[in-house]
Amino acid sequence: MRKGLIAANWKMNGQEESNEALLSEILEALHGLSAHENAQTEILICPPALYLQQVGKKLEGSQLKLGAQNVHPAESGAFTGEISAQMLRDVKCSHVIIGHSERREVFGEDDQFIAEKFSAAQASDLIPVLCVGETQALREAGETSEAVLGQLKAVLNHAGVDAFKNSVIAYEPVWAIGTGLTASPEQAQEVHALIRATISELDTGVGEQIKIIYGGSVKSTNAAELFAQQDIDGALVGGASLVAEEFVSIWSAYCSN
Ligand code: 13P
Repeated sequence: MRKGLIAANWKMNGQEESNEALLSEILEALHGLSAHENAQTEILICPPALYLQQVGKKLEGSQLKLGAQNVHPAESGAFTGEISAQMLRDVKCSHVIIGHSERREVFGEDDQFIAEKFSAAQASDLIPVLCVGETQALREAGETSEAVLGQLKAVLNHAGVDAFKNSVIAYEPVWAIGTGLTASPEQAQEVHALIRATISELDTGVGEQIKIIYGGSVKSTNAAELFAQQDIDGALVGGASLVAEEFVSIWSAYCSN
């Protein structure tokens, strides 16, 4: 059985004091869950890069993992403002989010650049969390599958299916991010199944074991029905991950699923 993953993407939110308070609340609430519940999932916290060390220190000794929100594909050099995969390893990150729609849309990252980031992350033993998802216009035009598979295949073609053995895919329909609109469980399942089938066609083992998590307005009130779907292995949570009670409830919904 695949172990689930509940990941918090804090985006550009938080400050030292509020980070400390949020993490304390999360860690305390997690103590209240049973060992059985705890064994069902991995939890990942992805704060802004500036706070990776603060958060990493706070998570020491806990089962929570540390992830970054972005990485540059080069090893080092003249890339003002950027951070390399080795630097993320240096501050004990295990994961990095790649290809989030906000990076694609706001910062103009294309499929090729995202594929290079994916490979650079893996070369430094980071687990990439590759985000894919269609815009509202593409969904309305009936082009969801083409859009999602196009993004997926750009990385598959660059890195090969073997590279997906140790990676996570996050399906995040762009129209559901931060909007309060969530894909229905059936809509999400359809795309998750398509992603898994596409990978399974290349390698059944990789397709079976890869975690495919859902993101887009996940909250405590809609998490359980999403997690009940066969191919949804967890969530990438934005806004609700900034509220300890919400985030822990989402985790708990996965564990009791
Ligand atoms: P929201 O949960 O705020 O919709 O954000 C989802 C997301 O983009 C996570 O990466």
